[in-house]
Amino acid sequence: MCGIIGAASSRSVGKILVNGLKKMEYRGYDSAGLILNQEEKAVQIRTLGKVSNLEEAMVQEKPKADSGIAHTRWATHGAPSEANAHPHGSCDNIYIVHNGIIENHNDLREQLTNKGYAIKSETDSELIAHLIHSNKSKGKNTLEALIKTTKELDGAYSIAVIDTDEKGKVFAAKQKSPLLVGKGIEENFVASDPLAIAGLAESFYLLEDGDFAEITKTDIRIFGSDGNEVNREETPIDTNIQEVTKDGYKHFMEKEIYEQPEAISRAVEGRTTEGEVLDNIFGLGSSEAFKNVKRIQFVACGTSLHAAKTARKWFEELCETPCYIDFASEYRYRNPLVEDHTLFVCISQSGETADTMAALNYAKEKKYLGIVTICNVPTSTMARESDWKIFTNAGPEIGVASTKAFTTQLAALLLLACAISKIKKINNDKRANAIDDLHQAPDLVKESFGLKKHIDEIVEKIADKKNALYLGRGVYFSIAQEGALKLKEISYIHAEAYPAGELKHGPLALVDEMTPVVALAPEDELVEKLLSNLEEVKSRGGTLYVFGNSGSKIKIDKGKFMNMPECGYYNAPIVYTIPLQILAYEVACSRGTDLDQPRNLAKSVTVE
Ligand code: F6R
Repeated sequence: MCGIIGAASSRSVGKILVNGLKKMEYRGYDSAGLILNQEEKAVQIRTLGKVSNLEEAMVQEKPKADSGIAHTRWATHGAPSEANAHPHGSCDNIYIVHNGIIENHNDLREQLTNKGYAIKSETDSELIAHLIHSNKSKGKNTLEALIKTTKELDGAYSIAVIDTDEKGKVFAAKQKSPLLVGKGIEENFVASDPLAIAGLAESFYLLEDGDFAEITKTDIRIFGSDGNEVNREETPIDTNIQEVTKDGYKHFMEKEIYEQPEAISRAVEGRTTEGEVLDNIFGLGSSEAFKNVKRIQFVACGTSLHAAKTARKWFEELCETPCYIDFASEYRYRNPLVEDHTLFVCISQSGETADTMAALNYAKEKKYLGIVTICNVPTSTMARESDWKIFTNAGPEIGVASTKAFTTQLAALLLLACAISKIKKINNDKRANAIDDLHQAPDLVKESFGLKKHIDEIVEKIADKKNALYLGRGVYFSIAQEGALKLKEISYIHAEAYPAGELKHGPLALVDEMTPVVALAPEDELVEKLLSNLEEVKSRGGTLYVFGNSGSKIKIDKGKFMNMPECGYYNAPIVYTIPLQILAYEVACSRGTDLDQPRNLAKSVTVE
C-alpha cells in the first residue's frame, strides 16, 4: 500500500511528481523516491521518511527531465530504508515503482539470482525490474517485456516503469491495485489516485485488472490483458478534489472533524423527502431487491467496522432483520454459512481496503442476495464490483484517522436501514423519526463543537497517561470503541473500550488513579445500569470523564461531566462521536505526535 505516480510532459516533471506524492502520503510515508529519465543519464533520488525529505534532496540536486516515475512507501517486504525505497532498477536500464504484493517472490528471487541478477533490496518489487529487463533482453520491446513479466507475477500490483532507452515514455500495468491514466494538456500521467493529478489533468481513465498503458506527453495508449489496444471510459476530474488544503487548520484531521456538519448533509441530501427515504438510492432495482432481505452480513475494517457495529441495532429495529458482522480480514477464513436471502454489505472509506475487497470477491462466489457497498470514493474498486452502492459524499479524507468518513457512514447505514424498512412496509413511524433525526444531525454536530472548551480543560489530565478505558452500553459501546481507536492511533496512548457491564468481569482490575475512564452516558434505556457500572469505577479510585445529558443522575465533579446536546434516538450515536474525536485530536496535539500521519500506519490499506 503505497502511492505511485508517473508523468510524461513538455515541461520538467520533478516538481509534478513530488507534489503528486505529497497528496498521496496517506497511502504510506516511510520512504519516498523518484527517477527522472534525463537525456544524458537517469537520475534516481531516494530518501527515508516523508516526501518532504525527497523534496529537500531535489532542491539540492535540481534534476530536470520530461518523464519520470515516483513512489511513496508503506513497508511490507523489507524495513523502511533507502535501499528498500522505490524506484528499483535493473542494469541501469529498467526502473519501476510498485504498489501491491508479489506472492511468488521467493521463487522469482531464486530464478533471477540464478540468472546472475544482483538483487540489492529486501523487497518483492525489485524483482519486477529484473524480470522486465530479463524479458527485454530476449528481444522484446519494453511494453512486450512488461506484459510478459506480469504473466510471471502472482499477487497484486500497480506498476509504473521507465526504460532509459525510451526517453519521454512511461509504461504501466495494473492487477488488483488501483491505477489510472490522467490526461492533461501536453502532458499525461499514471497515478494511484486522481488526487495526485488534480489540478494537472482534466480527465482520467481508470485501468481495469489486466490492463497496460504506455504514455508520452501527447499520447495515451491502453492495452487489455491480451495486448490489444482497448478504450476505457474517460472520467472528468472531480473539481471538488482540485485543491485539498488545510484551509487554515493545523491538521487535516482537525479540518475534517469540523467539516462534519456539511459532510453529513451531503450524505443525506437528495436521498430523502419529508419523513421518507427515496426509492433506489442504492442504485437501479435496489429497492425491489431489498424486499427479499432476511439477513445482512456486514464486513469492514477498523473504523468502518465500528460503523457496522453501531448500525446493527437500527437494522434490527427498523427492518427486523438479523445482522452478522465480521472483521473483513477474518470473514472468509471461517467458511461462513450463507443463508438464503442474505444481503452482503461492505463498508469502506477508500473502497480499496484489501481485506474488505477480498471478502467482497469471496462473497461474489456465494449465494448472497446481492452486494452493497457504502464508500466515500466513487472511482473505487469496491464501488465498481458491487451490485448496489451509496457514496457517503464526505469529500476527500486525508488525515489517516477516519473522522467524517465514520459519521457519514453512519448516515448512509441509517438510510439503508430505512430503505429496507420502507420496501418491507414496516415500522413507518420509527423510519420517519430516523429520517427526521438524520436531518437534525448536522446542527447537533455543530452544537457539539461547543464542548471543545470543556474538553480542553481535561486534555492535560489524559495526555500524560499511558492507558485509558472507554465505556459505553448498547450502540454507545461501539462509539466508545471508535473513540478508543482514535485516541490510540494518533496519541499512542493505549486505549481499550468495554461494554460497561463487562468491567467487573476483568478490566476493573486495570482501574486506578493513573487510568482515565471515559464514559458515554446518554439518557437511554441502559443509563441506569451504566450508572451502577460507573459507581464501580469511582469506588476503585478511577478518574471518570462522562459525556451525558443535562438531566443525568450521575454524581460527578462538574469539570468531569461534559454536557451533550439533546439528541434524537437515531442521531445521538453520530453526535456522541464528535467529542471523542476532538478529545483524541487535542490529546495528540498536546503530546506532539504526527497526527495526520501517525507512525506505522497508512490510510489506504491495500495489502492483506
Ligand atoms: C482508523 C481508520 C482505519 C480504517 C480502516 C478501513 O481511523 O481509518 O481503521 O477505518 O483501515 O479503511 P477503509 O474504511 O478505507 O476500508
